[in-house]
Amino acid sequence: MSGVEVKPGRRVVGSDLARHDAIEKVAGRTVYAADFALPGMLHARLKRSDYAHAKLTRVDTTAAEALDGVVAVYTAADVPRNTVWVDVPGQTLEVGALKARSNVLADGVVRYHGEPIALVAAESDDAALAALDAIEVDYEPLPVVDDAERALDPEAPQIHESGNLLAHWELEEGDAEAGIASAAAVVEDEYRTQFIDHAYLEPEAGVSWRDTDGVITIRAATQVVEHFRDVARILDLPDNKVRLITPYVGGGFGGKEDMTVEPYLGIVVALTGRPARMVWSRQESLQARQNRHAVRMRYRTGADADGRLVAMDVDILSDGGAYALLSALVLLYSTTCAAGPYRCPNVRIRARTVYTNHTPCSAMRGFGGMQVALGYEGQMDRLAAELGVDPLELRRRNFVERGDTLPIGQPLETTVELPALIEAVTERLEPPPEPSAPRRAVGRGFACNLQPYGRCVWLNDWSSAWIGFELDGTLVIRIAVPDIGGGQASSLIQIASEVLGVAPERITIHIGDSALNPLTGTTTATRQLYMSGNAVLKAARDLREQLAGVAAELLEVEPEQVEFGAEGVSVAGGERSLEFRELLAACASVDVSWHVHATYRAPKGVPWQADESWRGRVFPDFTYGCHAADVEVDLDSGQTRVLRYVAGHDVGQTINPQSVEGQIEGGVAMGLGYALSERLVFDEAQNLTGSFAQYLIPTAVEVPEIDTVVLESGEGMGPFNARGIGEPPIGPPAPAVAAAIRDAIGARLTELPFTPERVAAAVRAREEDADAEG
Ligand code: MOS
Repeated sequence: MSGVEVKPGRRVVGSDLARHDAIEKVAGRTVYAADFALPGMLHARLKRSDYAHAKLTRVDTTAAEALDGVVAVYTAADVPRNTVWVDVPGQTLEVGALKARSNVLADGVVRYHGEPIALVAAESDDAALAALDAIEVDYEPLPVVDDAERALDPEAPQIHESGNLLAHWELEEGDAEAGIASAAAVVEDEYRTQFIDHAYLEPEAGVSWRDTDGVITIRAATQVVEHFRDVARILDLPDNKVRLITPYVGGGFGGKEDMTVEPYLGIVVALTGRPARMVWSRQESLQARQNRHAVRMRYRTGADADGRLVAMDVDILSDGGAYALLSALVLLYSTTCAAGPYRCPNVRIRARTVYTNHTPCSAMRGFGGMQVALGYEGQMDRLAAELGVDPLELRRRNFVERGDTLPIGQPLETTVELPALIEAVTERLEPPPEPSAPRRAVGRGFACNLQPYGRCVWLNDWSSAWIGFELDGTLVIRIAVPDIGGGQASSLIQIASEVLGVAPERITIHIGDSALNPLTGTTTATRQLYMSGNAVLKAARDLREQLAGVAAELLEVEPEQVEFGAEGVSVAGGERSLEFRELLAACASVDVSWHVHATYRAPKGVPWQADESWRGRVFPDFTYGCHAADVEVDLDSGQTRVLRYVAGHDVGQTINPQSVEGQIEGGVAMGLGYALSERLVFDEAQNLTGSFAQYLIPTAVEVPEIDTVVLESGEGMGPFNARGIGEPPIGPPAPAVAAAIRDAIGARLTELPFTPERVAAAVRAREEDADAEG
């Protein structure tokens, strides 16, 4: 438990309120996207490429179309506009790198294994599957690029006409070479991270139908209801003729940030006029949906004799896979966070992402800000060893503080509580246990991080919400927020309840509908509590002010003296009161409305100019963390067991402690899978990972007890000064485990995941060295 307490004067913000959606979920009654069915619906399936790179010389659908129960088979030529743009609708964004296009269905060339070639609509799922087999595709294989370094070779096959360099960000602050030359200690290393999958329990799914006035309506598992516009563009329809509804989502983690089933559901209903359903298999989800980027990082870090950083030279190369999607933006996070939460006067960063024939990479929790934590924290541990300084002490000497600027020019405007987090996390630790058997070793490691919350400020982000009373005094919130399991909706109920007094059980929230609810942006980028929370807070305060004026007249007091409670308003501690329904009747008679719509706008920034001198704000703010891991390594098998884990973050202000702890525990569990076992395996760009039997997410057996430390600095840009906590906890686990393994076996691992094979090899190498010396 976090030990978070409700602050004096607060009613529900910070209280351990059970989420309104909890009982339904625990009882297994929540209706997810794949649970919906419509009368007369078709079953849609995708024919996917067998090759990672090939020309399509023939796609013949005649035999498939002739099969019983098959209604239609579509290829690229049938799609009204076969292009998917990754863009920011309605914004003018001048950073070309952030614009990306891909195809709905492959157009003459396939560039990754599993790329959709044709779309089948059939009366039954069996008929759809039979049609997939009957589609005849002739491929002319093209040479495959399956290595990011090789992609940059001028002789390498070009995957797109624009060349294999997808995007790059480069900057130098001070003089990195001179700084390295002047340093008392310099450490250098290379770090590698792997491709991984989001591995949510709910695969990609949805249904679609044509509704009143010809509006194409799609109900799908997505993090982004604004994709209705992207579907409209693909269908060549006006934006207001497509509606997207998102039910509660069984996990997103960035995997449902780009579109998955949405365009295909739109095409089937638009071209056949019939409702449709599409559900991807686990195999499709693992093989063909975008992944986390594999990254190769080279760090050279120099410090003076006191252990203060003087220079950093960072080279980041990420594998973006076959299509750009969000790679440039992901790389921008890597660039912004590359130096970690540390001050350093001379920093050079070169960050590049390239096309290969791997499955496209895009958003995943931590979004480029997390891979670099393995690099910058590995370097701090190396430097500490080199200088003979305690690793936490070395960090303390270098932490950024409020008022500092990251190398990219990002100002830090809120408090950085990393020293307090170190202290709080260290206090929770017990002495490391003795090894449980001979030939086992125990070790402890720490890692700190920073992760932005809120979208990149160049995107002019905004959110909006509607709040109103019903005539019986109950309250309604309307907001198109997708709730992907993090408690996005329930926190908004708490915020409204805090301001308006209405008891949470008397509040209903309507979420995730692009047509009927105010748009509020994506559930991504650790932005939803921050952005939608601020919109709901503003709406609730505006509504309170409106109602307080009417109540003050009736109760014959000043508006500030009106108190808002669970059932209504009162003055002087309940001496005189009005129930909400009485107050609403009074509002009606004086023409004061009892509902409001409010918009919140995030800070803006000046987008990156190609000009080398660009410096500036990239994100609204950051969340900081410090984690500690105790591990035990079996020196023969190399098996690493995490014995105990403590994870601390400054969340500014807790809205719901259970949600905060859930995000931290979930982030740690996911981060431990990344550290120790998860990886997508490719062989010459053929994705070999087809099931959870081959893709090793941690189970209840592997996940240790996770102790969460929730620090509330009272500073943050969200409602009640909350900071975002969705992504930040994913960063520290891998570097903390790396440090703990180093402490246990005396060898440093730099390539993820730290599988038993790799750990055992490191132990053997170390023991052979020791034998040779002995
Ligand atoms: Mo995300 S990784 O911005 O859902």
